Amino acid sequence: MKFGGTSVASLPRWQNIRELVASRRTEGARVLVVVSALSGITDALKQLCRHADRAERNEAAKAIVQRHYELLEHMQLALPGTLNERLGDLVRLADDSGSLGELAWQAQVQAHGELMSSALGAAFLSHSGVTTQWLDARECLSAVALPNQNERTRLLSAMVEAKPDPALNARLAALGEVFITQGFIARESQGRTVLLGRGGSDTSAAYFGALLKAQRVEIWTDVAGMFTANPRQVPGARLLQRLDYEEAQEIASTGAKVLHPRCLSPLREPRVPLLIKDTNRPELEGTVIGPEVRAHAPSVKAISARKGITLVSMESVGMWQQVGFLADVFAHFKQHGLSVDLIGSAETNVTVSLDPTENLLDSDAIAALASDLAKVCRVKVIAPCAAITLVGRGMRSLLHTLSGVLAEFGQLRVHMISQSSNNLNLTFVVDEEVVDLLLPHLHDLLIGAGALRTDDSALFGPSWQALYGSGEVPDVAAAWWHEAERDRLLQIAAEATPRYVYHLPTVRHQARELKSLAAVDRLHYAVKANTHPAILAALAEEGFGFECVSPGELKFVLAHVPESAPLLFTPNFAPREDYAWALTTRATVSLDALYPLEHWGELFRGREIVLRVDLGRGLGHHEKVRTGGSGSKFGLPVDQLDDFLHLADAHGVTVRGLHAHLGSGILDDTHWGEVYAQLASLAERIGSVSFIDIGGGLGVPSHPGEARLDIAALDRVLREVKAAYPHYQLWMEPGRYLVADAGVLLAKVTQQKGKGALRYLGLDTGMNSLIRPALYDAWHEIVNLTRLHEPATALYQIVGPICESGDVLGSDRRLPEAAEGDVMLIAQAGAYGKVMSSPYNMRDEAEEIILE
Ligand code: LLP
Repeated sequence: MKFGGTSVASLPRWQNIRELVASRRTEGARVLVVVSALSGITDALKQLCRHADRAERNEAAKAIVQRHYELLEHMQLALPGTLNERLGDLVRLADDSGSLGELAWQAQVQAHGELMSSALGAAFLSHSGVTTQWLDARECLSAVALPNQNERTRLLSAMVEAKPDPALNARLAALGEVFITQGFIARESQGRTVLLGRGGSDTSAAYFGALLKAQRVEIWTDVAGMFTANPRQVPGARLLQRLDYEEAQEIASTGAKVLHPRCLSPLREPRVPLLIKDTNRPELEGTVIGPEVRAHAPSVKAISARKGITLVSMESVGMWQQVGFLADVFAHFKQHGLSVDLIGSAETNVTVSLDPTENLLDSDAIAALASDLAKVCRVKVIAPCAAITLVGRGMRSLLHTLSGVLAEFGQLRVHMISQSSNNLNLTFVVDEEVVDLLLPHLHDLLIGAGALRTDDSALFGPSWQALYGSGEVPDVAAAWWHEAERDRLLQIAAEATPRYVYHLPTVRHQARELKSLAAVDRLHYAVKANTHPAILAALAEEGFGFECVSPGELKFVLAHVPESAPLLFTPNFAPREDYAWALTTRATVSLDALYPLEHWGELFRGREIVLRVDLGRGLGHHEKVRTGGSGSKFGLPVDQLDDFLHLADAHGVTVRGLHAHLGSGILDDTHWGEVYAQLASLAERIGSVSFIDIGGGLGVPSHPGEARLDIAALDRVLREVKAAYPHYQLWMEPGRYLVADAGVLLAKVTQQKGKGALRYLGLDTGMNSLIRPALYDAWHEIVNLTRLHEPATALYQIVGPICESGDVLGSDRRLPEAAEGDVMLIAQAGAYGKVMSSPYNMRDEAEEIILE
């Protein structure tokens, strides 16, 4: 068990250590405690080493001794002999800096931090009833001499080769049950004390774990373990409960600070697991890093970012083909003591990255390197950059899930992409300034795309925010009503499946949430999401208007909603007769091309219309639902606006509204503010505009842990832009947000099949009822309603009965072991479910049931 500086700096912390050690003893384990120096002491010792003046050194030593006396006093302990000796040694060392040689003296002085804290700890633990032996780590850990070391690294950044040593184990077994020793220190072949450098105490614990072939190594720190991203940047980052050594090493090397990457390699060969635990919250599960290879689907495990990266781009001056040229180039890096991290090469260019954690990257070092390199090539230094790394075993097999993530990089300057040869990471080097905003977004996208498979609860624990944040993160599951309605749902399914069930209270709840947006003057429900008459009626009651895209929708809505409800007709590539008919109704008609006015201008004479424009970009949960940019068929490009206005003028048509809708499933609350601002500035050019319709597209999170759209933040954003352009009415036309969570699809289990490593679970309906997974890789939570609270022990591919390989409703779902006839619930099926279903294969259509 290893405890760091803050964990050993006060009496309550030592009482905590005592409890933890005692609890391991009751499990029957023998315990070796590895400690760091009291917090602040290593720095104080380094400071002492910097004083040239003997009197100042003596002063510094006295202050350090005093810190230990104070803690002893708190503990109400008499000064133990072991500590007294160490304190005396330190005072002597401070007084005489000459006899050892500068570096050996520094190592000896700094080693006292751990020597003193461990002596103090031994006394406290023994005194409080846990008999503890003090062990000198230097007797056990021997530093190895490596070819590339100089005197400084040999003494201040040493390495130990730790192979299981049964003799040591036997020796300790004979001595007692509980031991305490020092992190950070070892001894070299000449008998001098050496330091282990950065991450030293964790590394010591790992060395001891390997030497003793321990049951496990526990690193006790101030956070519960490793997370899927740095929680300071991404509060929604999830606890990683299980990792293998390589993944953990990769995450540690690419940015996670909780564990030093060095401390994993000693444990790999003897297969000793390492556990990271939170000292203040020992009940939390923590992260286990071990040899166990679990049968789980490949997943991105973490996204990390390292800042302060410098890129050195070397352009050929005609020498690349020569044998040995790269060796010459890299010799310069070696000569300047710079360690290269990533490499990208082309016929005439080699670009490498330098990581500040591995290098002393001051501008002098870079300038000296650049001037040497300039003798053999053209050099360009690009800084400051950041390396964003996706980590996960089998990264190459995950590429197809990353399209949405890769699309985000499309907008940025990506200087370099590197894929590690161990297939564990994919790294993008970008400008440093974009990272803080980008990272939370990428983390969400990875979850949304199913690349970071947070639904696998065996691997991914709670979010950092849920564990440490002030309030609970609203959990998607909390929005689901099916638990409360389980009995009714089971009864509905017992009568027949497949069936869609819609929960009207959820529709009303969502509607009221949107009605709370103070800046919005009019809300239209995009009926294409779900046309059930009861839903139309409920939303009409809530005061919604309706947005329709075809005469069919428009007729249906006219038949089912009161005459007072405002209507929008927003078709795309519709035939002439659609417009002709729509113009006979009370609907406000929108155009999004020049053609209708060019060819059927007379039809629109004297009318007021809405113009839908393309703002040049699309957004949304999948490429197929993004409705902007030159790759999409929607909207009038802004560069044709003047032509449109001329045509409108020529036919006496008034542009009363401006409209844009960029896509579906947007979870960024700033988006609609930008659309309003852009449309408002166009409206200023047009003059006749009185309302601005900023579209729909409000997303609902589908994966557990994905953040909900922040309606209060959206309210603020819209109020702000509205205040800048108060003379326009603000309209919206959401679909999904109102109905997605309100609907579920119920189906029954038909058959099971094992095939290779996969287990297929068949349902009595599939893509014919719900095409979203097949069409957009959409992720719908799937629940075995019959076995709602049984443990999820099986990993299933959930498929339907349709004769298409794409007939998969959910991949790699961890669920209870299922049986024929079990009722399965496919969640969030209220939007674009039934309306997109088909009679394909002539399977029965899913009926629709309303829950009031
Ligand atoms: N306004 C217009 C002009 C639209 O085209 C749409 C949706 C909406 C509003 C409503 O968007 P919503 O708030 O529902 O995101 N089938 C896809 C979604 C396609 C959306 C088509 N247009 C899906 O299942 O994700």
